Amino acid sequence: MQKMLSRKKTMNLDEIIDSIDQRPFYRCEDGALYCSPCEDILPQLPDKCVDLVLTSPPYNTGGHSAGYHPNSTTGDSFYDEYSDNLTNEEYIDFLAARITETIRVSRYAFWNMQMLSGNKEAILTLLYVFRKNLKDISIWRKQAVSQVQKGRTAKGFEFVFMFGNDDTMAFDYNEFPDNGYVPNVVEVYKTESFPSHHATFPVNLARYFVSYFTKEGDIVLDPFLGSGTTAVACKRLGRKFIGIEISEDYCCIAKDRIQAEQKGITVAELKRGQKVLF
Ligand SMILES: C[S@@+](CC[C@H](N)C(=O)[O-])C[C@H]1O[C@@H](n2cnc3c(N)ncnc32)[C@H](O)[C@@H]1O
Repeated sequence: MQKMLSRKKTMNLDEIIDSIDQRPFYRCEDGALYCSPCEDILPQLPDKCVDLVLTSPPYNTGGHSAGYHPNSTTGDSFYDEYSDNLTNEEYIDFLAARITETIRVSRYAFWNMQMLSGNKEAILTLLYVFRKNLKDISIWRKQAVSQVQKGRTAKGFEFVFMFGNDDTMAFDYNEFPDNGYVPNVVEVYKTESFPSHHATFPVNLARYFVSYFTKEGDIVLDPFLGSGTTAVACKRLGRKFIGIEISEDYCCIAKDRIQAEQKGITVAELKRGQKVLF
């Protein structure tokens, strides 16, 4: 398959960080992490400064874990800093403002969401509002299908809404495999979980989109970084990253994961301060 010409990169990571009037919570050679509400950082970012946004916002679960783990004990404190309990109107406004910003600052903005009663109206409304920007929808098929509530179907997939700046369904396919085959159904196992963060996505999900929709050295932004999964995938693939997360506890988890990745050790080994030799 004939490849498309490479895009001209206009800003590097340092220049983007210089444009933000806040010190990163954590900075390393290939990324930066901001401990802040993303609405404070996103407006400071220049147009089209990153290559991909990959993110998973709070799902408006009503303050409860809506089915990630059938035996969840997270109860009313699903997130650390954020109640996840907006009205439909508030949630639509919350997402619309941030989707608009991510489409402005990036070439592509991929939003992972699961449809629940607290966000169904928002998802359907936003898909209509952003219909010109919706390039495609991928589905992330889960191995562990979880029962949210009695009388409802057990949830076996989540959406990834793939927004861009034009109304064509075609992507830049420079990084697609030679046969051009990139299915929009992704099947991944979650291999890592963190007791203090109950809504992480699998690193191989992030890896899938980062590898096919960016090239080495490109910059990926996740404005709801959570435990840092997108940053970990970027490190594994030689991409740069900017993460934003409102909770300091989650920023600490993300920082540990990034540092462990950097050293080629596990988070447990990082914490023990030494690499375990087998
Ligand atoms: C679904 S989780 C993201 C999980 C992430 N993909 C991972 O694998 O760890 C959503 C995250 O958004 C954070 N959050 C909520 N409101 C925020 C805001 N206004 N700005 C930045 N982060 C926010 C929550 O603390 C939570 O960690």
